[in-house]
Amino acid sequence: MIFRLVTITLLLIGCTEHPASTTCGQTGSLYRQASYPIGVALDMMELNSSAEYQTIATEQFNSITPENIFKAESIHPERGFYNWLETDSLMSYCERTQKRVHGHTLIWHVQLPEWIRSFQGTKADWELHMKEHIQTIMTRYKGKIAGWDVVNEAFNEDGTLRNSIWRQHIGDSYIEKAYRFAREADPNALLFYNDYNLEVSPTKRAAVITYFNNLRLRGVKIDGIGLQMHISIVHPGSSEIASALMDVSANEYKVHISELDISVNPLGKNITATTELLGEQANLMGAILLHYRQLPLKHRYGITFWGVSDRNSWIRSTYNRIDYPLLFDDNYQPKPMYCKAIELL
Ligand code: XIL
Repeated sequence: MIFRLVTITLLLIGCTEHPASTTCGQTGSLYRQASYPIGVALDMMELNSSAEYQTIATEQFNSITPENIFKAESIHPERGFYNWLETDSLMSYCERTQKRVHGHTLIWHVQLPEWIRSFQGTKADWELHMKEHIQTIMTRYKGKIAGWDVVNEAFNEDGTLRNSIWRQHIGDSYIEKAYRFAREADPNALLFYNDYNLEVSPTKRAAVITYFNNLRLRGVKIDGIGLQMHISIVHPGSSEIASALMDVSANEYKVHISELDISVNPLGKNITATTELLGEQANLMGAILLHYRQLPLKHRYGITFWGVSDRNSWIRSTYNRIDYPLLFDDNYQPKPMYCKAIELL
């Protein structure tokens, strides 16, 4: 209802940015419709400053991934100093609105503060420092965060281990250690490994699955794998996505589609959001939902969208191109992709 009113108002005052045909006018609540959690990555500044953003976040989603504030550069900006301001505030929003929280991310090679990048120390010092980072954060929110991306993006495309700062200083075993430290801090939290292109590259996916299967044999409990799925209407196809989801689930991992966005402009052309492009995007969305539904319920940790609306998407700023990858448009109106989701969830 609220979307329809806003659309009508915008049409009346003639300031709608896209043709009306690109919004679907459908209303409802994604998560209420679904049999598994439907998540969104949230930005605290937007949450605190935009009523429309907050309304959509609260009404449409029941799982929240903080987009940036749990990353080391934000939460641990100085040695021995943790910035809990924003994370505490997000946690109380989630508590108030009864949202599940997915923690993202503890050990990554990106968005590190300068003090970690220039940290000098022995292997033992690095291990201790990794342990302290993981356990301080997890202990503060013990029992309140359902699942954690403990390690993020540790693999290269050819399936070898990325030579990240953590690997350079601790060696390959940093991954195993990170999961052991995490398990120790909160035995009940679900522990995930998260990466991109797992749906695109069977080589990378096989390497990740084999690696974590081996860790399991060594007694490390890994609960799930996050497939980021920053994809486009061009690639990958629906059947590649289906194989990836089934593969991960067949190996007894919960499957988190953890950062979903569907680019309509992967080549960075000068485009607008046409009905045709958004229709293709909606169709791929539909296919993903149908494939995801085939997984056993116990493996459906959820689908998380990487942002609320097109205007909030990281793609525009990071890749410096116009794109329309999310469920809601620049005016927070539901797009055909949203309607497809409401229809098929
Ligand atoms: C992105 C955020 O969306 C941006 O706001 C930030 O500037 C850079 O990081 N893989 C991940 C996410 O695991 O944490 C990244 O998020 C997108 C790629």
